[in-house]
This record gives sequence, C-alpha cells and structure tokens, in this order.
Amino acid sequence: MADALLSASLQLLFDRLASPAFINFLGRQNHIDELLSELKRKLLVVHKVLDDAEVKQFSNPNVKNWLVHVKDVVYDAEDLLDEIATDALRCKVEAADSQIGGTHKAWKWNKFSAWVKAPFATQSMESRVNGMIEKLVSIAQEKVGLGLKEGGGEKLSPRSSISTSLEDESLVFGRDEIQKEMADWLLSDNATGDNMEVMSIVGMGGSGKTTLARLLYNDDRVKEHFHLKAWVCVSTEFLLIKVTKSFLEEIGSKTDSDNLNKLQLELKDQLSNKKFLLVLDDVWDLKPRDWEGWDMEPSDGEGWDRLRTPLLAAAQGSKIVVTSRNESIATTMRAVQTRHLGQLSPQNCWRLFEKLAFEDRDSNAFLELEPIGRQIVDKCQGLPLAVKALGRLLHSKVEKREWENVLNSEIWHLRSGPEILPSLRLSYHHLSLPLKHCFAYCSIFPRNHEFDKEKLILLWMAEGLLHPQLSDRRRMEEIGESYFDELLAKSFFQKSIRKKGSCFVMHDLIHELAQHVSGDFCARVEDDDKVPKVSEKTRHFLYFKTDYDQMVAFKKFEAITKAQSLHTFLDVKPSQYEPSYILSKRVLQDILPKMRCLPCCRCENIK
Ligand SMILES: Nc1ncnc2c1ncn2[C@@H]1O[C@H](COP(=O)(O)OP(=O)(O)OP(=O)(O)O)[C@@H](O)[C@H]1O
Ligand SMILES: [Mg+2]
Repeated sequence: MADALLSASLQLLFDRLASPAFINFLGRQNHIDELLSELKRKLLVVHKVLDDAEVKQFSNPNVKNWLVHVKDVVYDAEDLLDEIATDALRCKVEAADSQIGGTHKAWKWNKFSAWVKAPFATQSMESRVNGMIEKLVSIAQEKVGLGLKEGGGEKLSPRSSISTSLEDESLVFGRDEIQKEMADWLLSDNATGDNMEVMSIVGMGGSGKTTLARLLYNDDRVKEHFHLKAWVCVSTEFLLIKVTKSFLEEIGSKTDSDNLNKLQLELKDQLSNKKFLLVLDDVWDLKPRDWEGWDMEPSDGEGWDRLRTPLLAAAQGSKIVVTSRNESIATTMRAVQTRHLGQLSPQNCWRLFEKLAFEDRDSNAFLELEPIGRQIVDKCQGLPLAVKALGRLLHSKVEKREWENVLNSEIWHLRSGPEILPSLRLSYHHLSLPLKHCFAYCSIFPRNHEFDKEKLILLWMAEGLLHPQLSDRRRMEEIGESYFDELLAKSFFQKSIRKKGSCFVMHDLIHELAQHVSGDFCARVEDDDKVPKVSEKTRHFLYFKTDYDQMVAFKKFEAITKAQSLHTFLDVKPSQYEPSYILSKRVLQDILPKMRCLPCCRCENIK
C-alpha cells in the first residue's frame, strides 16, 4: 500500500495532465506539452517504488527523507497545474469578455488577471518544469542506493500476533468494575429473548480489549455457566471457513473438510440446545475473503448473517463477545451492548509501570527515578500498551540520564518500544484513501487540540479532501460528516471528556501517527516567544497561542511570505473556553494577499 497522500496526489496529477481541457489549452504551446510528458514519465518511475518506500520509511530515516523530497516535487507540480488551470480560465473569460465588449467588467478582470499572471512573470513555466524534472532525476537515482524496489511493499497479511485465551493475568489493573458488569451480563438470561446475544468491546489499538475479553473468558463463574466455550482470533482478514473451523476445533470437534456447508451443519449439530460463549477477538471487518459463493463482494452484514446462521440452534443464554477497534462491527452484529474501553486511570497506569520498571530495584533507585517515571507514564495517556512497552524498556535502564532521555524523546523514536507504532499504523492502513488524507491533515493541529467537528469538516472541504462518488447526491458537509464519523468509530478520535457535544480529541499516540504519515510540510507555532520556522516548502501554517490578552505583533508573521506555496493559514484558539488574543489586522491586510494559492484561511482572532 503506497504512501496514501503521495499516491493519491500523483493519481490526481496524472488525471489532470490527461484531461482534454488541459491538452487543448496547452496545444498552443507544444514544447511545454512535451516537457510535461517528460515530467509525467519521471513521476511514474518514482510512483513504482512508493509501495516499498511507504513500508521502509518507518524503519529507515533516509527513506522518510526521500519521500519528503518526492512530496515536494509533487506539490510543486500540483501548484503549477493549478496555475495553468487559472491561466486557462483567464483566457476563456477574456475571450468571452471581448465578445461582450464590457468596459467595467474588463477593468475588474484585468486587475485580477494581472495578479494571477504574477507567478509566470517571476519564473517561466518552462524553467519550473525543467527544475522539477532535474529533481526527479536525482530522486530516481537515490532510490537505487536506498534499495527501493518495484512491487515491494506491504501485503496486508493477517497480524503477526494472534491472540489466545491464555496469558498472565496478574499484571492487569483497573478493569475490575467493567469486568464485573460484563461477567454479570454473561451470566444473565438474554433480555431480548433471542437464543444468542452479542456484546462488543471497542477501543483504540492497545487499549486492552483482548485483555478484558480474556479476563472474562477465564472467569471461574463464566467457565461453569456455559456448556461450550470458544476463543477465535479473527484478525485483519475475515475468513468465514477458517472462523467456523476454529469454532468447531475449540469445542472439541475436529474436521479436515473445507466445505462451508459441511462445517456449518456440523457446528449446528454440536451447538444444538447447548449454551455457548464465543469470543471473537480482533475483528476488523466481516466481509468473507475465502468464500466464492457471491458474485459481488459481500457486505459485512452478509458475512455476519452467514456466520451466525448455525449458531441460532444453540440454547437460550448463549453469548458472543466481540472485540474490535471499529464500532461499526458492533452495529453490524446487532450488539445489545457496546463497551468503550477508555483510558486506564493514572493510578493504574502507575501501578502497571511500577511493577514492570522497578522490579528488583533498590529503594534508592526508586527515589531517584520515580519522578521521571511518573512523567513518562503521563505521556502514555492511559494506553496500557504504551505503559507496558515503556515499563519494560526502562527496566533495563539504570542511569537517571537514560530515563531522562526517554522522557525527552518522542515515544516513536524509542527503538525498544517498537510494538506501539506498528500496532497503531495498522489502523491507518485499513482506512480508505480519502480518509487517510483527512486523518493526516489533522496532524497540523497541536497535540491535545479539541477538534470541533463542524469546523474540521469545513477545513477538509476547503482543502479539497472530500471525494464524493459520482452517484453521491449528499451535500459536501454530509460527506464530511460521514468521514468524521468513520474516523471516530475507528478510534482515531475520542469524545472530549471536558466538553459534551461535537468536541473531540486525538490520543497523543494517534496524533504522532498522523504527524508521521503527513511529513514535514507544516509550520506550527505554539510558543509565543518563538518566531515561526517557515521555509519555502511550508504548505500549512498554524498559529496557536496559549498566552492571552495580548496583541500579537505583525512582525512575527512576516516570515510566512517565504512560503509561496502556502495552502493553509490557520489561526486557532486552543479551546472554545479559553480567552481570546488579538492578532494584528495587518496580517490580513499585508501578508495574506501576497499568497498566490491559499484555498484555506481561517482567522479566529483578528479583531
Ligand atoms: N488493564 C490492563 N492492565 C495492565 N496491562 C494491560 C491492561 N490492558 C491491557 N494491558 C496490556 O496492554 C497490551 C495491549 O493490550 P491488548 O492486547 O488487550 O489491547 P487491544 O485493545 O486488544 O489491542 P489491539 O486493538 O491491537 O488488539 C497488552 O500487553 C496487555 O497485556
Ligand atoms: Mg486485541
């Protein structure tokens, strides 16, 4: 799966280069046409190894850097095409206007067209394309040295770690209450009157869904209550035959057949009038990938119906517990209850960390390292996976300095905690292309930002990130809302606990992931004392002040004029409830009009 942002941008570029309107317009300038074809050929060379680069960037910083260079050229090319499109429009309007012979209109238009022509005046289109081609030639040469191969890349194979029902439970903290409530539900009669009911556990990667399901599965009361129990790990690919077979094996009925019909009959027979508990762990979707019975790709609903049919023969009180990062699985399976696994409390995180990091250490070491440890645990924001990885990592570190290094480094850069990033990256890989774009865009906001759903959707719209299907008649806002809801259901956002309604936050580690995939084209100023670090490459600029009731000087923003490709200028308040500051009006009057392509500009603090 190629770098989503690049791949999509390139595809869009190729489409635009091939569009009849574009070819028509350039028909008059043959040499440019040839140059652009050459540019396309060079981009295609790079495109072929993107899959491989996407995977290797996570382990090789040079590959990540290489991708930044590719993005830079792709963005330049996008801007150039925008300018050509504007020029084409200008010619069209001028031609129409000369036919009407309007004088006032012509005056107004000339003013505008003088402005849009400006980029061509400063540097000819020809030399710009030549510049891009040159860059691409060296980029293509570098790919060899980096070992990037065509057809490389990640095949989305099932996850390497398959869960089982056994693990050390003595190290589990803070889930007593939810465990008790869920166990009570498991032991109760089915309120709906159906023979079988479903409960889902939903939460982001590493929040402890499997761990909680395991606690329930191994609970003595639960063990006694059910006639049959089965633990089936589904993982990223839903294979109907495999799941049915695993269920049969778990309840002691071994079979070699791969015939779904036979397997289902056998299962129905085994379950008949028995009360069963089935844990379906780690479900990503329910579209069967292993059965040819459908002409078209089956929906999740069809997959679930197929799976559940033989289970209906079971006795009243049978239960299924499903764990997933995706809440829509619960809807598809018509779960009677959905439990969201939130953050582990700070006290419980500390207990877990303490157990792992301080085992066998003397009390002097504890005194010295505890304050640092507590800060490190804070950074994990209640995610057990992160607490555990860091606890294990720090167990091997003795020096105070080493602990401080960990505290000050980004969690991702810890080579010894590699399970965090891959685990969350998987969620990103499973998003559709437009959702990947929208998610990565969120990285321009600072950590702990409170996202207002409606405002975010408007920004996605302004940036052109929403892609309605041809037959889609919904308004753009509705499409944006469906994107957002999907990201929320898949645990990329969480509801803000500080505020009810449409206010959402992103877990720090998810935010890190967004930054990781979106690269370095964003300048963000959060600290009022610093002058923004803006380069020619900067595409998005976000000003975010945490110190209030002051006038923010115009001087601070002058650096932005360097970023001639700026697409986004945002001046946001950290939270609706914080007092405002005031941004100099001159930013609006003297700086922003100099930007030649700025589709997205929002200033919340100009008075
Ligand atoms: N309450 C807890 N106390 C201590 N450790 C926990 C707790 N919950 C989870 N863990 C640990 O955190 C790690 C991640 O937990 P788990 O595998 O259950 O997460 P998950 O939500 O199932 O993740 P995924 O979405 O990747 O399947 C495991 O090592 C687990 O032992
Ligand atoms: Mg799990």
